[in-house]
Amino acid sequence: MTARVYVTRPIFDQGVERLKREVHVEVNSDERVLSKSELISHLREADGALTLLTDIINREVLDACPRLKVVANFAVGFNNVDIEAATERGVIVTNTPGVLTETTADFAWTLLMAAARRVVEADRFARAGKFKMWGPKMFLGHDVYGKTLGLIGLGRIGQAVARRASGFNMKVIFHDAEPIPEQVLQDLGVTPAPLEELLRISDFISVHVPLLAETKHLLSDRTFAMMKPTCVVVNTSRGPVVDEKALVRALKNGKIAAAALDVFEREPEIEPELFDIDNVVIAPHIASASHETRLKMCMMAAENLLASLKGNRPPNLVNPEVWGKRRS
Ligand code: DGY
Repeated sequence: MTARVYVTRPIFDQGVERLKREVHVEVNSDERVLSKSELISHLREADGALTLLTDIINREVLDACPRLKVVANFAVGFNNVDIEAATERGVIVTNTPGVLTETTADFAWTLLMAAARRVVEADRFARAGKFKMWGPKMFLGHDVYGKTLGLIGLGRIGQAVARRASGFNMKVIFHDAEPIPEQVLQDLGVTPAPLEELLRISDFISVHVPLLAETKHLLSDRTFAMMKPTCVVVNTSRGPVVDEKALVRALKNGKIAAAALDVFEREPEIEPELFDIDNVVIAPHIASASHETRLKMCMMAAENLLASLKGNRPPNLVNPEVWGKRRS
């Protein structure tokens, strides 16, 4: 019998066409996040789901969908899926690592530069017709070249961000809970630092850790207080890594100079006070949003889904422990 796949939101046509060559596909054509009950009603009859990071696949959903064998997430992050629950129930989970690394690193730099040089503020100023005269102290920002960049997390994306820093002649330090091979450190020219030291000496801090219990609110009142008042903080990882209310306090009280955020604690909700602060750049979770990369992510999710449904090990398996006890 042909397997049934549900795609939770409109994706690229090429991805749907690829799936249709092998399975029966239904796509939610509404550009909105489905509620839990809607998700369950669609996934109940499905063998596979192509999900987005906005779909919460928890125990309740998995229990209500006993036929579901694979959840192929269209994202490298998979904190929207309860991996433990999926593994217990024999459900394969996959993600889309690698293809978005460079695009996301480009965007971390976009945010860093925009915040350092106040591009968004200046754009608002110019559009408002306020540019009446050039001024020697107008929109003074912070130099980037030659400064110290602190990377919290030196995985694939952190490393790609580090590579770009050499063009700015920066000193790059990092903190990562996992050991990084010495050769990688040498090639990148980066130096490990205890987290507290990184917080104290960095001019720019860019966050590249997954959302885990240990990384939730890693940036908090306590850690912002350790930073330089000239520090610029960039977050392209996951929103809850930064305590958004503490960030507001840090910006308002001059504990740091600026921030640039692509992700938010209660996405798509954004802490309202952030809107009233000039020295924060706000982007709607678009770090991987290039034409090329989003298409690659889509095709990768589709291939992961198809491989799993054919009984093959998918290329990007998140929960290898599931292998011996997959749902059939
Ligand atoms: C991901 O893939 O996890 C990003 O947050 C969206 O591209």
